[in-house]
Amino acid sequence: MDTNIARILIDRDRIAARVQALAAEIAATYDGGHVELTLVPILSGAIIFLADLIRHLPLKMKIALVQLSAYPGATTSPRDPRTLLELTGDVAGRHVLIVDDILDSGRTLRRVQAMVREREPQSLRSAVLLRKPGKAPPDVKVDFLGFDIDDLFVVGYGLDYGGLYRNYPHVAVLNPELLP
Ligand code: IMP
Ligand code: MG
Repeated sequence: MDTNIARILIDRDRIAARVQALAAEIAATYDGGHVELTLVPILSGAIIFLADLIRHLPLKMKIALVQLSAYPGATTSPRDPRTLLELTGDVAGRHVLIVDDILDSGRTLRRVQAMVREREPQSLRSAVLLRKPGKAPPDVKVDFLGFDIDDLFVVGYGLDYGGLYRNYPHVAVLNPELLP
């Protein structure tokens, strides 16, 4: 194992099983797949979750990308997210599902929800793989959730520290000595 990884929090098998179950929940919510969806993954953290999730989604779907940066460089404290890439696709009048890796302070998801809402979608829901306890304000609603985790800085399965570890296949806790 990478010596910078302290321990695995959620291994790849548990993630895979949960992602498959989430896809079933999502498909059931959208009329068993009779609704055409637009997924809005928040780059870059959502890429692995998105890639696994959509291959279990038996419905017609398009993807509109958006990129925000919450933790510039090698920091672990959230700041106001910056929009790096505006929505790349049309969401007006469409059923929209925002996809993100983790809900922490909720600032990122709140920003993207507002961005989509402004364009008047037909419906708007959000799917998040991980959620840290109690920090997101109550107005930031999540409809599909993978796992609640402790308030730890995690990497892997799309999540990075200073741009690294996104390809680590498990959700893991970094060696605390590395963190500022
Ligand atoms: P929020 O805006 O504070 O909710 O943070 C959400 C964004 O910050 C996520 O989309 C992640 O990209 C990033 N983030 C939050 N917590 C972690 C973590 O523990 N590890 C890696 N990235 C994180
Ligand atoms: Mg992110």
